[in-house]
Amino acid sequence: MARDNPPPLALITGGTSGIGYAIAEKFAQIGYELIITGRDQERGQAKAHFLTSTFDIHCEFVALSNTDWTRYDTFIPLVRSRPLKVVVASAAIGLQAHLIDTPREEFDKLVQTNVVAPLYLVQTLASHFHAPASVILVSSDASIEGEQELGAYSVTKSALNMMGRMLALDLAPKGIRVNVVCPGDTLPGMRYLLRPGEVERSPDDHLTWPVPPRGRLGKAADTAELVAFLVSDRADFIVGSVMLVDGGSRAGRPDPRAKVQTLQN
Ligand SMILES: NC(=O)c1ccc[n+]([C@@H]2O[C@H](COP(=O)([O-])OP(=O)(O)OC[C@H]3O[C@@H](n4cnc5c(N)ncnc54)[C@H](OP(=O)(O)O)[C@@H]3O)[C@@H](O)[C@H]2O)c1
Repeated sequence: MARDNPPPLALITGGTSGIGYAIAEKFAQIGYELIITGRDQERGQAKAHFLTSTFDIHCEFVALSNTDWTRYDTFIPLVRSRPLKVVVASAAIGLQAHLIDTPREEFDKLVQTNVVAPLYLVQTLASHFHAPASVILVSSDASIEGEQELGAYSVTKSALNMMGRMLALDLAPKGIRVNVVCPGDTLPGMRYLLRPGEVERSPDDHLTWPVPPRGRLGKAADTAELVAFLVSDRADFIVGSVMLVDGGSRAGRPDPRAKVQTLQN
């Protein structure tokens, strides 16, 4: 039997791990039904089962690669009869390489996964939202100040920021607010921030990350809190914003004479 007021529905790509998962958990806590995506079937089903049983909501996992956009229509029957209120595009990959050295096939993969996929997702679902609704694009602090060692990744995230602004103009008149969040270095996360040819990331990579002025690295929940605020009615006038959640890392240029603190020292 149909309920009078069915719970709001949120769809989160990359909702099976790291920041995307923290956002899913936050939404589950505040009573959203969920669709989460990722490629790893086992991980996705385990996370969906955990969220469903822990928070007494319904969470469905859809195994889907970001670049398999011919299958994006799969979502339409899943959202058609429910109040789709939020879409979060969090799934992304990285690459540890200077832009000039980035192999073309790797560059294409980054652009397709981090830029083209979120656009096609929002285009596919645009007419299925129940306004007022929100789209959140998960970008990066590297979009604000590029990181040479993550050249192509920085380029894709910067493009994503502008995409968020353009979509905000297109969708705001329909009652759909689009905003972009830019996490700083966050643990755990970025399992796919690989060097060209690598298949698994070194678990020690983060030891050389500079510690932000706030005195700690980011937690996935830091970004999830911002996202929960941005999709709420309290953020009704926030449209097309690009917001850092980075502990001050990109606030300005630190004194070059000061020793940079890392987790190693
Ligand atoms: N963690 C950080 O330090 C940091 C900093 C700045 C920005 N960000 C941004 O935050 C977002 C989330 O990153 P994270 O740290 O949470 O990463 P993560 O832990 O590696 O999670 C990535 C998620 O995306 C999915 N995914 C990856 N590639 C995919 C693809 N090609 N198709 C479909 N799903 C894919 C993964 O699922 P499967 O494994 O099943 O494919 C997983 O659910 C990304 O947009 C990232 O750029 C992260």
